[in-house]
Amino acid sequence: RLRGVVALDGPSGTGKSTVSRRLASALGATYLDTGAMYRAVTLAVLRAGVDPADEAEVARVAREAQLTMGTDPEAPAVFLDGEDVGREIRGPEVTGAVSAVSAVAAVREQLVAQQRQLIEQALLSPGGMVVEGRDIGTVVVPDAGLKVYLTASAHARAQRRTRQDIAEGRAGDLDRTHADVQRRDALDSSRPVAPLRKAADAVELDTTELDVAQVLERLHELVDDRG
Ligand code: C5P
Repeated sequence: RLRGVVALDGPSGTGKSTVSRRLASALGATYLDTGAMYRAVTLAVLRAGVDPADEAEVARVAREAQLTMGTDPEAPAVFLDGEDVGREIRGPEVTGAVSAVSAVAAVREQLVAQQRQLIEQALLSPGGMVVEGRDIGTVVVPDAGLKVYLTASAHARAQRRTRQDIAEGRAGDLDRTHADVQRRDALDSSRPVAPLRKAADAVELDTTELDVAQVLERLHELVDDRG
């Protein structure tokens, strides 16, 4: 078991990013947002004018893209070919295309390899790493010291995403976001390669009725209890 790795998986809108960052800060750990990596490749695909459904072309763009991840939980960052794309990757164009791009096996192989490298490096320092995504506990680090699977009702998740969109200056539309959250979950859960699912040995935590402080409290208990 890799004691230094905390794997946090689950669908979007569960509060995963917020709690992952805060947990990492509190533990003195680094933080890896693997969703940002799939989003950055998706941005590269869109910029190249490639159809996200064209697997061969998507794989080519992914191979040629240079991704650099900043793993400080206070200032996580993602660079595509040297350009800070942290803001652009959260926009509706990327959000609409990311599930198609992340379903391409060659893209996943490449990003999982990069993720494992970053995790290996992080394990050299005492704080370890908090890694969030969809397949961290099942595929990327099956021997993580702690695996948590966050869930919440689709309604609660759509509400959180809408609030976050408004807070970050994007258009917020609850109905549209609700539809998007459900569409993305269905695509992410049904893809043949590394679908979104709870690892058998992950602790499931339903955040529907919990605020950030309550989720963090529970996560700290789980960290303290880990073997
Ligand atoms: O977490 P976030 O919403 O930024 O993830 C964006 C998308 O990236 C997800 O909907 C999913 O399609 C993909 N993803 C993935 N595997 C991961 C992380 C994200 O397929 N480990």
